[in-house]
Amino acid sequence: MNFKIFNYDEVSSTNDLANAYAAEHQNIDAVFTADSQTNGRGRRGRSFYSPKNSGLYISFLIHPEKTLVNPSLLTCMTAVVICRSIEEVCGIYTHIKWVNDIYYEQRKICGILTEGKIDPETGSLSYAVIGAGLNLFDPDSGFPDDIKEKAGALISGSPDYKIKNKLFRSIIENFSRYCDNYDVNSFIDEYRDRSMLIGKYVKITGYNNRSFPDDESALVTGIDDNCRLLVRFKDGSSYALESGEVSVTQP
Ligand code: BTN
Repeated sequence: MNFKIFNYDEVSSTNDLANAYAAEHQNIDAVFTADSQTNGRGRRGRSFYSPKNSGLYISFLIHPEKTLVNPSLLTCMTAVVICRSIEEVCGIYTHIKWVNDIYYEQRKICGILTEGKIDPETGSLSYAVIGAGLNLFDPDSGFPDDIKEKAGALISGSPDYKIKNKLFRSIIENFSRYCDNYDVNSFIDEYRDRSMLIGKYVKITGYNNRSFPDDESALVTGIDDNCRLLVRFKDGSSYALESGEVSVTQP
């Protein structure tokens, strides 16, 4: 896969740039990166803290040819791509918290936001934008209060831009390779192996399709080939969650 690469110092959001580019150009696959974002966006309308000299903020714009590509699986594939690149470049093993977060030493070091446009006639994806924000180094003034208990940096000490560049190249190479040979079976097992939820009890805090009791925990029994989280409650009822958020809790 050949990407047109756009590199910036500061932008509002690399996902916004990718979406705007897609609206004006037909079928050009591209990568947008920036050293900082003034309006970095996360899932569920949250902001994503994106200060300069600290992270790798990157968005891929792709035009999947197959109707079967489901956006959740693109998130899942990208999580595996990023974990692999981190391992190859830094020798660090990271875990994935379903569906779109990457953790190292119990801290969130990366989030992924997948957006796209559905062709109303065919119901397939006209294009997809997959954005990832990777906290590489500690921000100059630390993480803000609202995320400081949860967020962390992958590498401690002062910023090493050689590593940042190597990671950037590795992520593009791996992403391109996985897209060229797009097949769920090439990444879903690794996604499961890296899962930090399988076998744990969770509370389901945000789910679009129905609500679950606040005080009941469910056991995560697996992740299926559509990247749905499989959970079982104490009363034996089981669900395959398509999206939403969970937090680890006690049985
Ligand atoms: C999340 O944690 O909810 C997802 C965060 C995704 C952040 C990345 S940074 C690059 C791209 N641009 C954005 O505005 N968001 C994504």
